[in-house]
Amino acid sequence: MAWTERQHRLLAAMGLRLLSPPAAEGTSPAQLPVAEPAPAPVAPRAVTAADVAVSAAVPAAADRRAPPPPADAPGAGPGSAAAALSALGWPELREAVAACRACGLCERRTQTVFGVGSPQAQWMVVGEAPGEQEDREGEPFVGAAGQLLDRMLAALQLTRAQEPGTPPERQVYIANTLKCRPPGNRNPAPDELAQCEPFLVRQIELLKPRIILAMGRFAVQALLRSDEPIGRLRGRVHRYQGVPLVVTYHPAYLLRNLPEKAKAWDDLCLAAEVFERPPAG
Ligand code: URA
Repeated sequence: MAWTERQHRLLAAMGLRLLSPPAAEGTSPAQLPVAEPAPAPVAPRAVTAADVAVSAAVPAAADRRAPPPPADAPGAGPGSAAAALSALGWPELREAVAACRACGLCERRTQTVFGVGSPQAQWMVVGEAPGEQEDREGEPFVGAAGQLLDRMLAALQLTRAQEPGTPPERQVYIANTLKCRPPGNRNPAPDELAQCEPFLVRQIELLKPRIILAMGRFAVQALLRSDEPIGRLRGRVHRYQGVPLVVTYHPAYLLRNLPEKAKAWDDLCLAAEVFERPPAG
């Protein structure tokens, strides 16, 4: 089996020993594994009064399609809330995140961590939550896990850097499910994920990525509404609102479980193959 140059670069960047072959060069898109049927977004839970009571500045809700409005918004209710958030552009959304006090995480954050990358990026990576370093620097994935992520992306000639001349198909936008650091890097709590989710939903709406890479179980829970282990979801193509989505391990997990890097590499190759598929029709 001949390896492409790109695959060699990826192997080298990730320090991988080859465990399983990627899709053969020339494999037709139709031969790639695709999850069928694509999971439909799960119906949102009902918005409760508690959802709208906590935030003075921004929507706070679990309903991806109808996030509630600011508590002080005129005519506040799920419908007007959806409109409020869906009307925000990038700068306003960033401001709304920075002002958010919808859950207890705001008490201990240094700053919110909105996301990074070009708004024209055609790739999107969704991670979990800021850690200590991200909380300090205000940018996602800047610690050890982020360095691994950057190396993985670079192996596919992808970058978060917004350098003039980099085409959108080589640019990645990176965001987390949570915009504030959970203390001690504990797991995100369900209510925190629910409160923060509308921001991620709006980021995806604004970005309109051609592909989403969901890294780790919290990203998967948010985007696919699935509690299945990563190991059972990876290796096929899912969909989020029609956008192809590939599931893979979180880079922090890969740092603790080095043999799994080979699988993450396969996942990235799958994502790249899907990205390069000609549009259907
Ligand atoms: N892990 C994440 O999921 N996101 C970050 O921003 C940093 C570490």
